[in-house]
Amino acid sequence: MTAVVTGGASGIGAAVVARLRAAGTDVVVADLHPVAGADPVDVTDAASVRALASRLAGRQVELLVHCAGTVAVGAVDTPSEQADEDWDRAFAVNVKAVWTVSRALLPLMGEGAAIVVVASAAGLRPIAEMAAYVASKSAAVGLARSMALDLAPRGIRVNCVCPGLVDTPMARAAQRGRSPAARDAVAARQGYLVGRDGTADELAEAIVLAGTNGYLTGSTIAVDGGRSLH
Ligand SMILES: NC(=O)c1ccc[n+]([C@@H]2O[C@H](COP(=O)([O-])OP(=O)(O)OC[C@H]3O[C@@H](n4cnc5c(N)ncnc54)[C@H](O)[C@@H]3O)[C@@H](O)[C@H]2O)c1
Repeated sequence: MTAVVTGGASGIGAAVVARLRAAGTDVVVADLHPVAGADPVDVTDAASVRALASRLAGRQVELLVHCAGTVAVGAVDTPSEQADEDWDRAFAVNVKAVWTVSRALLPLMGEGAAIVVVASAAGLRPIAEMAAYVASKSAAVGLARSMALDLAPRGIRVNCVCPGLVDTPMARAAQRGRSPAARDAVAARQGYLVGRDGTADELAEAIVLAGTNGYLTGSTIAVDGGRSLH
């Protein structure tokens, strides 16, 4: 089985890669900063995505996991010269790349294949001072559900996994950008029924399940310690 994991060089994506490889899966990592000499892939760059598809030509892709993501910190009224740029980057990586990479690799995917979109619990229940990120992750949830509907006639399943807080470089960058009040709310794990962060491997377990359970499609699975309940 061949799997493609975008954002597979770090954090949750790297844990997905480790789990899949441990199960004997051939995994192609598509990341801006890949490890072990793999070619870099920028999921927001059409030529880079086309090059990825060309490198995979002739192979059957059974699983595509969209884990590449970017964070944007700021409320709608936060003074910032780069707010519009942050909005565009959030939508380019977190939403449009799910669309373009899926479209590029679908010709390599047949009946029984699966796609998993990694969105965020923030896309189900907003976090303060992260408006562009929240909006992009809500859009990713909707896109995954639409893709499940559209790809069902081809026998391709699509699910969305929404992580809560997991200690990764991205989560640390988000925390640095917040105001003290918002930072304290996150640090206190407000709203988390399980009073701790998730681990990258707990997320990877759910992502692999979403990709391999043949009766799961169109599902939005919050793996977030109960945060989205409130
Ligand atoms: N960590 C959390 O608390 C958390 C919570 C909710 C959702 N998520 C989501 O989980 C996913 C993985 O995040 P993570 O926390 O493991 O972050 P991370 O920073 O550890 O990993 C993100 C990876 O995406 C790659 N990437 C970014 N832009 C890219 C691009 N244009 N092209 C190719 N690769 C690119 C990075 O190089 C990096 O390897 C993201 O979609 C994130 O939004 C994370």
